[in-house]
Amino acid sequence: MSGKNVTEVVLADADGIARAAAILESGGLVAVPTETVYGLAARADSADTVAKIYAAKGRPDFNPLIVHVRDAEHASTFAVMDTKARELADQYWPGPLTLVVPRLSSAVLAPAVTAGLSTLAIRAPSHPVMQALLAAVPFPLAAPSANRSGFISPTTAEHVVRSLDGRIDLVLDGGATTAGVESTIAAIREDGSVEELRPGPIELDSRARGSSPGEGIEAPGQLASHYAPGKPVRLDAQIVAPDEFWIGFGGLSGDCNLSPSGDLTEAAARLYDCLHLGAASEKPRIAVAPVPEVGIGRAINDRLRRAATPAD
Ligand code: TXA
Ligand code: MG
Repeated sequence: MSGKNVTEVVLADADGIARAAAILESGGLVAVPTETVYGLAARADSADTVAKIYAAKGRPDFNPLIVHVRDAEHASTFAVMDTKARELADQYWPGPLTLVVPRLSSAVLAPAVTAGLSTLAIRAPSHPVMQALLAAVPFPLAAPSANRSGFISPTTAEHVVRSLDGRIDLVLDGGATTAGVESTIAAIREDGSVEELRPGPIELDSRARGSSPGEGIEAPGQLASHYAPGKPVRLDAQIVAPDEFWIGFGGLSGDCNLSPSGDLTEAAARLYDCLHLGAASEKPRIAVAPVPEVGIGRAINDRLRRAATPAD
């Protein structure tokens, strides 16, 4: 916070973006839409502002942040972009792929961004608002998802306000995000191999995946319990009990249907909104219809499993 406890919400037009850039420049926190979820951005080169991100989210300090940059050229001023990293960046940037690569010791980044790791998580987002913001400031932006740590991620400005009102300076309202789940995280190993640390909108080569889904989790933030709606969640529900809010898929229509036509891309885009609705509903429990474990369905099920895991 910049010495106030009012969170402003403004339209993400040219004026809004200029205002956001000024707030970031002076060390404030701004929630900004990306193609995946809303991010909580701060300048990544300042220890004070990065500390504010952790405080506003209530995020444990061992959980490092993703640094957002304009492009691969920009990324190479902070991290080692070897042949494999360049290849993936060429293929998927700008877009929802985060690369975990060695951090350059010369990189001007607050140490807390990487939580003491020698690697850096970095991505070039494709959302025009985030791109405009990155073009308007001379520093990279550290940005985790714009929600209180452990709770449901935000895909609208309203979701951000629900979670962080009074704790951040500004929300740039750019409407609902399109991909709906967080970026795929890929670690580039020294031998040039790639390992998926978090499933997301970009489907990596199957060799990048661990042997069993939900394992191979070395991203420190990939905690068993996450995206929690604050009430019990039951998965693979073919039928619903009277005290359950039902999140449906395809023909299992539910109180909130992820995709009536059974389209997984649409389901990913609607996932967090349905979880937010379930959290806000009077029903004490949430049940979720089965979602196929293919394509972005893997990312949906990954988030659902964590939402269904009790915090303790
Ligand atoms: O789509 C996204 O990636 C969104 C938007 C805002 O860009 N951001 C996002 O950030 O999901 P966050 O903080 O909610 O998740 C970042 C994940 C965490 O699980 C964290 O542990 C992991 O990235 N991470 C960050 N740095 C890492 C590193 N050096 N090595 C391994 N994992 C890392
Ligand atoms: Mg998050």
